[in-house]
Amino acid sequence: MTNATTFGLDPLANRIITAIAPELGVSTADLQLERPREEKHGEFSLPCFRFSKATGKNPAQLAGDLADGFHLEGITAAAAGPFLNFKVDPALLASTVLEHARSIDFARTTSDETTVVEFSSPNIAKPMHVGHLRSTVIGAALARIYEHLGHNVVRINHLGDWGSQFGKLVAGWQRWGDASKLEADPIGHLLEIYVRYHKEEKDDESLPADAKKAFQELESGVDNETRQTWKQFTELSLREFQRTYARLGTEFDFLRGESWYEDKLQDTLDFLEAANILELDDGAWLVNLKSEGIKTPCLVKTAHGTTLYATRDLAAARSRWSEFQFDRCLYVVGSEQILHFNQLKATLKRAGESEWSDRIEHITFGLIRLTEGKLSTRSGLVLTLAEVLDRAAELAREIIAEKNPDLANAEQVAEQVAVGAIVFHDLKHQRQKDVVFDWKEVLSFEGDTGPYLQYTHARCCSILRKSEKAAPTWGEFDPALLPESRDLMVAIGRFPQAIREAAAKNEPMLIAQALLKIGQAGNSFYRNCSVLKAETPELGNARLAVMDSLRHVLAIGLGLLGVPTPKEM
Ligand code: ARG
Repeated sequence: MTNATTFGLDPLANRIITAIAPELGVSTADLQLERPREEKHGEFSLPCFRFSKATGKNPAQLAGDLADGFHLEGITAAAAGPFLNFKVDPALLASTVLEHARSIDFARTTSDETTVVEFSSPNIAKPMHVGHLRSTVIGAALARIYEHLGHNVVRINHLGDWGSQFGKLVAGWQRWGDASKLEADPIGHLLEIYVRYHKEEKDDESLPADAKKAFQELESGVDNETRQTWKQFTELSLREFQRTYARLGTEFDFLRGESWYEDKLQDTLDFLEAANILELDDGAWLVNLKSEGIKTPCLVKTAHGTTLYATRDLAAARSRWSEFQFDRCLYVVGSEQILHFNQLKATLKRAGESEWSDRIEHITFGLIRLTEGKLSTRSGLVLTLAEVLDRAAELAREIIAEKNPDLANAEQVAEQVAVGAIVFHDLKHQRQKDVVFDWKEVLSFEGDTGPYLQYTHARCCSILRKSEKAAPTWGEFDPALLPESRDLMVAIGRFPQAIREAAAKNEPMLIAQALLKIGQAGNSFYRNCSVLKAETPELGNARLAVMDSLRHVLAIGLGLLGVPTPKEM
């Protein structure tokens, strides 16, 4: 349960609802206001169709009658056909929104829900590629959004550190491994071995045999040489991943690779056995899912006795449930794994666990496509995430050198702009859609970009710095002096709702889009209403409060998305 907020437009909506609900004979909780179809109709709208039957009036007649009987100070109601629209006086709007806009709790709510967010989850010994960027960025944003709404959030990185591929890697390492290369460029060298393994496997039968043996050794649980080698690969890979996470500001509560569930695998197989859903097929064990409408069965143990990706996910899900008793468990993983997660949920359901398996949700996302096709990579295979960040930082440095050559900490700001540009570009699209990545567009300081919003934020900071007086606190300025702030107040006022909707749909884009509206309205307010050269001191003072609120809300919103907010750029 999440409580109602006192932020943004919510207090106004609540007042309107309280006035209207008795007229309609419904409870206030039953009444929700929408946005008017057209901005000029005001800030709120109530479609009257729903109440036609109960009131015995047609919707237009009802809207008209309600408008006639509506009396709230500072708010007018007007019927437009079947819609009842409400318009708030700009002074009331400004005072309602600005009263709490600079609170550190702006748009926060409380909640007793636990939300597990599993995200990023790259594979050990392979570079994090741009696909993992999306999981990392979307997952981290969702985690912060739920946290802002008061949830107890558990962030898990389900590293791909187990599976038959590690047998292959060990077999390859035994033949071609080079300790000094591993030291210098661990993931590069391991990838090289992996690629070579696949090239030579067909002509050298001893390779797959050794690989199988190595994975069996790993799964035996004995601390042998194979395990030592695997451990080393894991540690070296993690060290590289950590560097990228640090750049993106990404943190996890738990780094739990697939291997972490090793001692829970047998128990998971026993549990499936006890539920009577295991079937033997040619030496392998599987769960048939036809009854759940899934043709492909879920394989949980191979004929040579090793476990699978799905076995480890079943163990992980059960372990998470018993540890966290989650209200929601999100898996932020690309859409190519839809079948896998459907199988996971269906298997748990067949095992009689639907009470909680229904709380599992696969948060899918589309692919990243690059317009500049010929970006060659270190490996020649995939574009790594680190390379994308490097390239963006290089471009950001060039732009800053041109726009603001005297900037003191240009290097650091370039990195912040680069990260902000990439993160925002990823999150401004509906997550299911593919993202087309065009360097020029991503880093532009104008248009729908991260740098545009970062720049707007920095500009607010600069005005506040240049002002002789500190921004007035609530009560020290007159909101009635701010009629021109109407669009900005509406944009800021709708932000709390954007956060709630972003959580309800697991869609950070709704926050990115709300921030763009705020940025646009903020820039046009600033263009039309000079702050530092205002006609009167009172006016300058009130406008300074607006700029300070804009700065604060941008910082909160960009912070939720993972976009850094430098004070100067
Ligand atoms: N490591 C996998 C990959 O990179 C993603 C893991 C997703 N999470 C899970 N619980 N299966 O494709």
